[in-house]
Amino acid sequence: MAYIAWNERFSVGNPLIDQQHQELFSLIDQAYGAIGGDPLNEYESLWNILSALLEYTRFHFAEEEGMLEQAGYPRLAEHKLLHKDLLKKTEALIGALENGEAGVDAESLCQFLKDWIEHHVLTVDRDYMPYLAQ
Ligand SMILES: [Fe+2]
Repeated sequence: MAYIAWNERFSVGNPLIDQQHQELFSLIDQAYGAIGGDPLNEYESLWNILSALLEYTRFHFAEEEGMLEQAGYPRLAEHKLLHKDLLKKTEALIGALENGEAGVDAESLCQFLKDWIEHHVLTVDRDYMPYLAQ
């Protein structure tokens, strides 16, 4: 069973955004899958996946924000702040993991990302649905 999987419950009614969310869910699932593998390869592939995840997240947020701006979404400024905050926290967690800081492990990082995206897509993103559907 997948660690995290997209399903129709997560749809925001926009095919492009849904597809990008699916990619993000898949990258988090891949990151989790890279934990506990061959210790010689584990971190190498985990770092690769995490850096791809960060890059794709930046791309997706920019796309989503651009579409919301076009659509005249009135709560875009608050929404952008949430995106920025997630990137900041994720970068800090990855940095802490790289430095081997106590209390930070790959599993808690994946859990943080899973909780964040599920909550964000189900609640915060849901708020713009009527604007993109127009
Ligand atoms: Fe969003």
